[in-house]
Amino acid sequence: MSTLARRSRATSPIDARPAAAALRREIVAGLTAPARSLPCKLFYDDVGAALFEGITQLDAYYPTRTELSILRCHAREIAARLGPRCKIVEPGSGSGLKTRLLLEALDEPAAYVPVDISRAQLEEFAATLAADMPGLEVLPLAADYTAGLELPRGARAARRVAMFFPGSTIGNFEPADAVRFLARAAALVGPDGALLIGVDRKKDRATLERAYDDPEGVTAAFDLNILTHVNRLCGADFDVAGFRHHASYDEAAGRVAMHLVSLRRQCVSIPARHGEPAVRLAFDVGDAIRTEHCYKYHPSEFAALARRAGWTLEAVWTDPREWFAVLYLEPTCAPRPRRADAP
Ligand code: AVI
Repeated sequence: MSTLARRSRATSPIDARPAAAALRREIVAGLTAPARSLPCKLFYDDVGAALFEGITQLDAYYPTRTELSILRCHAREIAARLGPRCKIVEPGSGSGLKTRLLLEALDEPAAYVPVDISRAQLEEFAATLAADMPGLEVLPLAADYTAGLELPRGARAARRVAMFFPGSTIGNFEPADAVRFLARAAALVGPDGALLIGVDRKKDRATLERAYDDPEGVTAAFDLNILTHVNRLCGADFDVAGFRHHASYDEAAGRVAMHLVSLRRQCVSIPARHGEPAVRLAFDVGDAIRTEHCYKYHPSEFAALARRAGWTLEAVWTDPREWFAVLYLEPTCAPRPRRADAP
């Protein structure tokens, strides 16, 4: 257990969220591309965040409880790898229980920096955590973590910075974007840093498709809510009842794709804003908007991807069914020139 000597406190979030105009441009670009898509970060308005919380409790959605069981089983080894006085940065905070498990196992964590686009969720989570863990300095950062981050300074000196990225959220990045994100993470934590990351593993189609299209319909509601969010953000007039949720596993690509499929011929309007023209979108029956890709990796595949971003895989923890993996990585050391080679 950690020795936490300081008084607990959570400062107000530093706000570095993208401007509304940039977000609208991103939405319009996705919806007017030949293969229509919406950025999956738009799932997480307050309603979407609550629906996602519901997903994590579903029988069909195995990743959350499987990752939790791995963290519980191996908390000591994980803490030993990370070592004392770590400053933990968690992009897309709100993993609650997982964060607590890690922070409680760590030896004198220097500070905890949750990063989230949803300010309300961030504030709530940071405040409860700070209250529950006296002595932990919580430094919330309201930001789009897919963009570059600047870490808030803490009061206590950290021995190293470690990124904690549980939940297999890395699977929601296209592989090239995952490499870019991991390279930025390596730069952020520096040469003595570390990465503890949850990765969902490849498995049979039935299990995967059930996880992303549960019988209770919570994932369908989560997917459709993105249209309500876009309506609110852009003043668009998507009729949510005119679309249905679809999820399928593409084994060759190693990913589950979620789509919203148009149930009828319909037009959707996005009014002019921020000096940008109005947009009219025409949908035929069966036309789809891709809302999410969820890549599944064997640990060795993930190690190869991370290597391209400057990380070396040092340890893997998995569950008995090998459905999920928690990986520990360190920045790859650049080979030091030998004395004789030095100028
Ligand atoms: C957040 N992310 C890791 C989830 C996943 O499994 O890819 C998002 C999700 N989408 C549908 N269900 C859960």
